Amino acid sequence: MGSGIAQVLVRSGYSVVLHDTTQELVGRGAEKISRGLERDVEKGQLTAEEKQRAESRLKTTTKLPDLASFDMVIEAVTEKFEIKAEVFRSLDALCRPEAIFASNTSSISITRLAGVTRRPMRFVGLHFFNPVPVMKLVEVVRGLDTTEETVAAAEQIAASVGKTPIRSRDLPGFVSNRLLMPMINEAVYAVMEGVAAPEGVDGVMKLGMNHPMGPLELADLIGLDVCLDIMKVLHEGFHDSKYRPCPLLERMVEAGRLGRKSGRGFYSYAKA
Ligand code: 3HC
Repeated sequence: MGSGIAQVLVRSGYSVVLHDTTQELVGRGAEKISRGLERDVEKGQLTAEEKQRAESRLKTTTKLPDLASFDMVIEAVTEKFEIKAEVFRSLDALCRPEAIFASNTSSISITRLAGVTRRPMRFVGLHFFNPVPVMKLVEVVRGLDTTEETVAAAEQIAASVGKTPIRSRDLPGFVSNRLLMPMINEAVYAVMEGVAAPEGVDGVMKLGMNHPMGPLELADLIGLDVCLDIMKVLHEGFHDSKYRPCPLLERMVEAGRLGRKSGRGFYSYAKA
């Protein structure tokens, strides 16, 4: 998702430094951005020159100190509290005190993440949706100490890249994943219990409810590991058994069947 977020930012005129842990990963992100911008050129939404200018606004790095001078850092690392917390602790020591920290977390508490930094008032949730260049929504999540100025700045950034910000309180899953993930989890239960095959479950939701993708196709797009992590956050956060992760979802993640990114989830995909 990080590359999708960087793509919409450079397209809208922002200078962006894309950071990842290895040269290979950050290079892959930059290639994805280039392909995405090329798609916009083919559709006539961007000229070749505008694409070139957008690309010139993108730099890549594997060194966190290269982010030190920026006004805002948007984190999109894996959906595990300790990993995110470690990134924010390091950034907090490096970045200017005025810089705003935003997390693209899909379910982890913004207040808890903000608590590992010395700038909880300038810490906000900025939750984009997949595929980022297409989906209009950004959920803006206010932690306990986030100031109105920070929320307003986050909303302004979202609007300036053509998205519609919608505010959510900082409760597990916010609005989006509190509704979406139990639906996906229940779809996995339906497959596990033999109610219907994945094609049948997805077909019902597409043809009967007009969803653009079935819940299992969508789970494959999001990543089954991400779906499982979010269900765990809901389960632990609300202490309510209605959010228990489906055992089949757990088995599939253990088997490495993570969806599109691993080549196999509920469906098979030719590896890119
Ligand atoms: N990147 C950029 N553009 C893309 C794209 C991608 N990965 N995939 C599709 N598009 C563009 C196409 O170019 C096309 O643009 P156009 O209308 O300007 O020509 C448009 O999207 C429609 O694409 P297609 O006609 O190829 O295919 P579909 O009509 O089937 O749409 C879809 C594809 C947009 C992915 C649609 O199926 C959809 O909306 N699916 C649901 C997605 C969704 O629910 N996302 C949210 C996931 S939850 C999440 O991210 C939160 C996290 O916390 C878990």
